[in-house]
Amino acid sequence: MKMTKMVVGSKTVAECTEDLLVLFVGQAADGSLLADPQFAPLLEEVAKFPEFKGKSEQTLALYPPYPSSGTKLCCRRLLLVGIGRLSGELREAEIYERLRLAGGVVADHCRKRRIERVALCLPVVLDCREEVVAEYLTEGVLLGAYQFVRYKTETDEESYPGLKRAEFLTAGRQPTVRKGVDRGAHTARCVADARDMANEPGNGWTPTHFAHYAKKTAAKFGLRCFVLSRKEMEKLGMGGILAVNQGSAEAPKMVILDYAPTENLETVLLVGKGLTFDSGGISLKPAEKMMEMKYDMCGGAAVLATMAAIAVEKPPLRVVAIVPATDNMNGSAAVKPGDVISQYGGRTVEIENTDAEGRLLLADALAYGIEQYRPDCVIDIATLTGAAVIALGHHYSCLMSNNDRLAERLLASADIAAEPLWRMPLGKVYAKQLQSQVADLKNIGGRPGGAITAAEFLHKFVGETPWAHLDIAGTAWDFTEKSYIPKGPSGIGVRTLLELLRRWPGRLE
Ligand code: BES
Ligand code: MN
Ligand code: ZN
Repeated sequence: MKMTKMVVGSKTVAECTEDLLVLFVGQAADGSLLADPQFAPLLEEVAKFPEFKGKSEQTLALYPPYPSSGTKLCCRRLLLVGIGRLSGELREAEIYERLRLAGGVVADHCRKRRIERVALCLPVVLDCREEVVAEYLTEGVLLGAYQFVRYKTETDEESYPGLKRAEFLTAGRQPTVRKGVDRGAHTARCVADARDMANEPGNGWTPTHFAHYAKKTAAKFGLRCFVLSRKEMEKLGMGGILAVNQGSAEAPKMVILDYAPTENLETVLLVGKGLTFDSGGISLKPAEKMMEMKYDMCGGAAVLATMAAIAVEKPPLRVVAIVPATDNMNGSAAVKPGDVISQYGGRTVEIENTDAEGRLLLADALAYGIEQYRPDCVIDIATLTGAAVIALGHHYSCLMSNNDRLAERLLASADIAAEPLWRMPLGKVYAKQLQSQVADLKNIGGRPGGAITAAEFLHKFVGETPWAHLDIAGTAWDFTEKSYIPKGPSGIGVRTLLELLRRWPGRLE
């Protein structure tokens, strides 16, 4: 989609003639309103309104003539957006989230009033550098302004071309603010990429589209890209993804992107589920809500969008992304309950339910990626189980891991990104639920602990390699309602993975 242009200008508030000027207002320790001193007279007047206390996400819209403001204002409208009390007991991650929320509130306000140009006045945040304040406000504005209109051909007075331009009024402090804005905009662009892929319907985003996106990214930024075709997967014995693809008219692809800046670096392998539509196969899903299964590729989208960011930022480590991509259909050649397949590496699996397909393609990708790239750690991300939604709802993604250090790093990154993770156990008692009468294992372990038994299935294919599994079934769409998370796909995972890789602190030991 077309992104909002972020501008860092040297204009002063008095020179601003935009459709909307936004003033972020905090709360001081004594509860009084807090902003740039030039607004002191205005805030004194505003303090008389009982409906605005500067609390997080509170707003107050003002129209000319403005209350005496010290500085003469020429903007067409003025919006005060509360950011609450930003010092004291708040953790760093909580401050960032307040700023994103405030940015999202601005985007929301503009959408409802069809405002296309906005100017922003940076808030005073005592415990936070201006650069960082600008970064997270930018994330919030851009993620909040996101919309997917590709298939809308008719416009009426209700339609809104989107927020075209947002300008920070820095009055001479451009360079530091610019740095933060660029970083925030870059992050938001990658999240928007992931949302765009997810918003495409099943017939608009096929495995071939995944392959094109990866090739384009590779050509643009100088990454290596390989796409394994059905034939190559057959030769390699990737019986999992091939079984899932059997009932489909659409060709499967194993999409690989490799960012390897220099030799002998630590290697992180990312694997994302790229199921472009999950009908359930022969174990067909009910019609109600089946449409949502066009989002079953959100893990793959997160991984590829993250690679695009990594290619630009160039952190000193090797990152390889693999997206096994297919849809899960029930054509006459489809895999059937009771069929036995052979995964990459030779392990046999009895298919008890064709709707537990994600683990089959991930198993091939994990085993192949580990053998091929010998990574120091692996992270997979997938809309894997309905059980994850039942366990944690739409507010946390499930984390399972065989390595405490990796789990801790992910928890910390997810906290900063406000994409909460909750770690769940693994264990032999769960793995036992996957025992099969006829094959090495079966693909479901019954309803109890369904998210964990799915993770245990994957666990069999990673061996001793430090590994973490993120089940984003509850958060990839319908994620916690917030100002900067629109309805539809959230783009979850991109910001967590980026945060993790940007700060990658070295070996896991
Ligand atoms: N893609 C689904 C999981 C899913 C369900 C994600 C709802 C988001 C929302 C996955 O392929 C699936 O169908 N899983 C089955 C597994 C079961 C058959 C063991 C499920 O969760 O019902
Ligand atoms: Mn399924
Ligand atoms: Zn699925």
